[in-house]
Order: sequence, then structure tokens, then C-alpha cells
Amino acid sequence: MSRVIEVGVLGATGMVGQQFLAQLANHPWFRPTWLAASERSEGKRYGEAAAWRLAGAPPDGVLDRVVESATPGVGPRLVFSALDASVAGDLERAFAEAGHVVVSNARNHRLDAAVPLLVPEVNADHLSLLEGQRAARGWKGLIVTNPNCSTVVLTMALAPLRAFDLRTCLVTTLQAVSGAGYPGVPSYDILGNVIPFISGEEEKIEVETRKILGAAGGEGVAFHPVVVSASTTRVPVIDGHTESVSVALGTRPSADDIRQAFDAFRGLPQELGLPSAPPKPLLYLDAPNRPQPRFDVGRDGGMTVTVGRLRPCKVLDWKFFALGHNTVRGAAGAAVLNAELMQARGWLD
Ligand SMILES: NC(=O)c1ccc[n+]([C@@H]2O[C@H](COP(=O)([O-])OP(=O)(O)OC[C@H]3O[C@@H](n4cnc5c(N)ncnc54)[C@H](OP(=O)(O)O)[C@@H]3O)[C@@H](O)[C@H]2O)c1
Repeated sequence: MSRVIEVGVLGATGMVGQQFLAQLANHPWFRPTWLAASERSEGKRYGEAAAWRLAGAPPDGVLDRVVESATPGVGPRLVFSALDASVAGDLERAFAEAGHVVVSNARNHRLDAAVPLLVPEVNADHLSLLEGQRAARGWKGLIVTNPNCSTVVLTMALAPLRAFDLRTCLVTTLQAVSGAGYPGVPSYDILGNVIPFISGEEEKIEVETRKILGAAGGEGVAFHPVVVSASTTRVPVIDGHTESVSVALGTRPSADDIRQAFDAFRGLPQELGLPSAPPKPLLYLDAPNRPQPRFDVGRDGGMTVTVGRLRPCKVLDWKFFALGHNTVRGAAGAAVLNAELMQARGWLD
């Protein structure tokens, strides 16, 4: 691509906002020229408004940039949103009304029938919802969303199993503390502990999964019939959501059939050679004690979902573990891949 596209980041000072800046540093297509956050940060140097909380140095020049007010109509046309959900609904809508293309991480618009909820390897065709979005919502711009961080991991692992008539899924998550933003869960609550409750998370996984795996048509998305039951926990891990998954299938594949389906899984991002697309979006690890967040979360810059321990389930049919980087594949990296897909498909022209 010859021209570089200027982009903005809404919520640039937060946990996911920082991951956006890391993902966009040296991006071949996108250059972040506008960083916005709340009134608390507005007008301050980034380094004053936010402490850098990711491993490694912040991208060059970021700490001296001035944080802007999140005012619609001011920044670049393409804006990535890492806004807190308490404000994202109204603010993102206002940005879309003002003509921005909003590529969002927040939960607020994910289930809007006119808004694509994308995992580009799984449902790139759901971009077709944008055809009707302007007419249905009356916005000059657009909104596209990526799923909840646990849902991304689950849908990538389940997508190849649609071929075996996926019927039922039980999932228990072990979610990292970075998923709660900063300062997130108090250290006294999480160290040496497991918290069996994350507000709203189980409901999000159960419904978002069915939209993503569903079929887009003229009337919106026909949700996939799979029945999902989720239990979510917070564990003392910094980055990486691990998921224990059991599935019931309508056909009778062997373990080899499922392994082959995981291995063969590719999507449009790989076909198009998008800059953030991992070569193998699902990587099966044979070692009996993998995947593990400490060793596997950063594969291909955090964009690969690792799976392992495929074995028969005595209650359903098969069970396995899956792991993904929650602030990369589950948030900022997912949104950047969505924007790359939109650019490749002409939605940013
Ligand atoms: N963490 C994850 O793994 C993850 C994964 C997937 C999706 N998400 C979603 O991504 C979003 C961001 O999550 P996070 O973990 O990065 O949260 P966070 O660390 O709490 O950051 C929230 C950001 O929103 C900004 N903000 C708050 N109120 C605002 C307002 N009125 N106007 C403009 N900006 C405002 C904050 O700015 P100030 O610093 O100025 O307050 C900050 O930049 C949330 O919707 C979350 O649900 C998070």
C-alpha cells in the first residue's frame, strides 16, 4: 500500500489504549497521529497522563504527545476505540455520526444487528452488514467491533469445529488480570487466589460466540445454534486468557480429524497477507502440559491462539484447552486486524 493512513486512538491512556500504540508503532499502513482520553488526561503530556504499563519501552515520541479531548469530528477519520464501556456507547455513536470509522473494542455496539462483530479469520463476510448500517442507523461514518477477549479465543478454537456440526460448548475461563484494565483487581484480592466471578463476562461469551459463528444475510446475522455455557474466573496471571473447552458435535470425527481441522484453519487475513495476520491463527501444541500463558501467549506478537490437550470427554464428545493474548488478540491486535481487513476490502476508501 503506497499511502499511509492517519489514525486516532480513543482511550489511548488505558491498558488497551497502550496496546494499540504498541501495535501501531511501525505499522506499514496506519500512523497514530491523534491520542484522546478523558477530561482527566486532556491537555497533559501522555507521559504525565498515563504510566506505561507494557513490557518494553513505549514507542518513540509517545510520552511527549499531548492527549486530546475525545471530541467527535476533530481527529482522523479512522479511530480505534479503547474507551471504557461506561462512555463508549454514546461517544462511539457520536464519532460515527460525525463521519468517523470507529473500530471498537468496547462491548456497547457488539450486538447491534447492523454492526459487524468480527474475528477476521472466522467471519470476514460479516463486513457485509456495513452495506445496510448507514441506512439503518443514519451515521455518516461506521462502527465495527471486535469481541470480548475471552470470546475471541473461544470462537477461533470453535470455528473449525463447525464442520463437525458443533452443537454444545461448555467453557471455563482462567482470565488474566490485564483483562480488568488498570488498576483493575486489587492485589490483595487476586494474589494466591482465584475469583469465580467477572461481571457480565459469561453472558458476553455465550451470546457473542453465537453471533460470530453465525451466518450474515440480508436480515443481519442468523446466530449459530450452538448452545454455550460459560463459567469465568480471574486468576493471578498478567496476560493471557486460558480456556478449558468441552464440545458436543453432531458428527463423529476422530481425534486426528479434529487435529487436522485445527491445523488447516486459515482465513481471509492469511489469504490476503494482512500485516497483523499470524501465519497459523490456531497452533496445536502436542506437549501434554501446554498451552501455558507464560510460554505461549506471545506467539506471533500475541496474535496466535494456541490449543492443546485434545482428548475425549465423558460427558460431551471432546475437550481441549485454548489460550490467547487478551489485550492483543483479544483487543488491540484484533481491532488493528479488523481495520486492515476493512482497508483491504475498500471500506476505508
Ligand atoms: N483489557 C482487556 O483485556 C480488554 C479486552 C477486550 C476489550 N476490552 C475493552 O476495551 C476497553 C478499554 O479497556 P481497558 O482495559 O484499556 O480500560 P482502562 O485501562 O480502564 O482504560 C479506559 C480508557 O478510557 C478512557 N476514558 C474513560 N472515560 C472517558 C471519557 N469520558 N472520555 C474519554 N475517554 C475516557 C480512559 O481515559 P483516562 O485515562 O483519561 O481516564 C482510558 O484511556 C473497555 O471497553 C474494555 O471492556 C478490554
